[in-house]
Amino acid sequence: MTGGARRDRPVRPVPSGPPSFAEARSKRARVRAAGMDPDYWYAVAHESELPRGTTLATRFWGHPVVVYRGTDGSLHALEDRCAHRQLKLSGGEVNGCHLTCTYHGWTYDGHGNVVHYAHDLFGRARPEVTVAAYPVTTRHGLVWIFPGDPALAPVRTIPAIPELEGSKPWARLDASYTWQAHHSLIIDNVSDFSHSYLHRRYRPFWDAKLTHHALNGDRVELSYETCVGGGPLTSRFVDRHRIDTTSIDLAFDYPYQRSDTGGSIKHWCFVLPMDRRTTRVFFLFYFAPGAVKVPGTRRALPRGLLPLFVRLAGALVIRPLLREDGQAVEAEQLGYEIHHAAPVVELNPAVGLFQDLTIRKWKEFLDRDRDRPRPSRIAAADGRVVPPPPDR
Ligand code: FES
Ligand SMILES: [Fe+2]
Repeated sequence: MTGGARRDRPVRPVPSGPPSFAEARSKRARVRAAGMDPDYWYAVAHESELPRGTTLATRFWGHPVVVYRGTDGSLHALEDRCAHRQLKLSGGEVNGCHLTCTYHGWTYDGHGNVVHYAHDLFGRARPEVTVAAYPVTTRHGLVWIFPGDPALAPVRTIPAIPELEGSKPWARLDASYTWQAHHSLIIDNVSDFSHSYLHRRYRPFWDAKLTHHALNGDRVELSYETCVGGGPLTSRFVDRHRIDTTSIDLAFDYPYQRSDTGGSIKHWCFVLPMDRRTTRVFFLFYFAPGAVKVPGTRRALPRGLLPLFVRLAGALVIRPLLREDGQAVEAEQLGYEIHHAAPVVELNPAVGLFQDLTIRKWKEFLDRDRDRPRPSRIAAADGRVVPPPPDR
């Protein structure tokens, strides 16, 4: 060969997405690929989203689910696909307790059986086909489905919230969002108070010091010493003489998250893992009657004015705050997808505990599911939207 040696072209790295759960080597990669155990009840909608005669399309870890309310008021949840040519049943029509696919008019009952064909069968026997049906119920103004093994539905419980029941329920505020982020990012966000800088305008908590964190069974408990509700607006309403706002207790009570400030301001956060990067999140805040005062006085806000207070607090503080969280977790998801191989820097030790719990519960489900006579399609899809989009 004459002249200088030919220089090799630099090899371009092939862009690759984050690893799957099976491929993941670090705790962070594993938790960002983990699903949630389907053998629990999951909130999928507010009851108000499902008036009689309507359908609602959702997903659980990639699996399309249609929830519909019959014109008779009954509630049902089915796989969101017609057994004929796989159209979404959520585009169909509700009659009585039945749902009819919009294309050829196959009609399903609430158990997923086809009970009527709106066309000639060409001399053939009625096809023996069904779609999956899920246990469904309502509680706390929310619609819940049980996406896992239906035999376990009666033994799993939806958290009780006694403060919202009875003749004098506490004032409540509901908020729900669908964020383009993995569910573990949201659990990290709502429990890790090191992000108070993000909320510097509203100051829902400030100068938080982690005073306790522990993993007990399927629950992570943690406490912070912090100033709760010290923002310019909330501090006028929160009665600091009556309730202790210097600390907050939180828990990730798998798969649900909650907090308690002084026994008087509480919240639950219910996440629905729709797919690998989509999570619907339901927040339920509730306030004891004595927790809120007339600004500038020591007088408790009259019970009749609590709903007005809650509406104002929601519009002026809580929802703007939650939007900040939503933007942050969506940005973190994008950052993770690009830089998933970057070194992990995690300072809050409680975050490691949420992640351990999420990983363990998903692994336990996969192991249990493998031993079932008919393994779940939820495990097989592994959070990819079914059918997988062509670019994956
Ligand atoms: S695709 Fe549903 S009835 Fe044909
Ligand atoms: Fe936040």
